[in-house]
Amino acid sequence: MAQFIAGPSTLCLLATFGAEDAQPAGFLIARAAGDEAELLTIGVVADLRKRGVGRALLRHAVEALKASGIQALFLEVDETNAPALTLYRQLGAEAVGRRPGYYENGGDAAVLRLDLQS
Ligand SMILES: CC(C)(COP(=O)(O)OP(=O)(O)OC[C@H]1O[C@@H](n2cnc3c(N)ncnc32)[C@H](O)[C@@H]1OP(=O)(O)O)[C@@H](O)C(=O)NCCC(=O)NCCS
Repeated sequence: MAQFIAGPSTLCLLATFGAEDAQPAGFLIARAAGDEAELLTIGVVADLRKRGVGRALLRHAVEALKASGIQALFLEVDETNAPALTLYRQLGAEAVGRRPGYYENGGDAAVLRLDLQS
């Protein structure tokens, strides 16, 4: 994580929840290469899920990446991860591939692409 955060082409976002005494609620790390970027990780504190934090993180990331001239964001996700898949699709990401056996437990990954040009 420290290595990713220190990287020159890395976007790191921390979301907080609550107006006063705001507490960390979630984070996102993406890495750019050329005119494409890859979502490395996104996570929301379990107690604060389903309140729009994940969507807000992704929307901010999309705006920041667009402003840097990035054309597309790639996302890799466990095919059984319904919350993440639904969130990505809701924002317009489309499946472009599969990685069978990608995860240590033998699970398959879906590769999604979010077009940032529009
Ligand atoms: C995936 C994750 C980041 C979503 O964060 P979140 O803050 O709960 O998501 P939001 O509240 O912004 O939800 C946005 C949309 O995602 C979808 N979604 C979120 N949680 C969902 C769930 N449990 N089941 C189905 N869809 C879900 C919904 O479409 C939702 O929109 P809606 O509320 O208008 O229906 C969160 O569940 C998480 O941290 N999961 C564990 C880590 C993880 O799996 N990261 C992704 C690795 S690729």
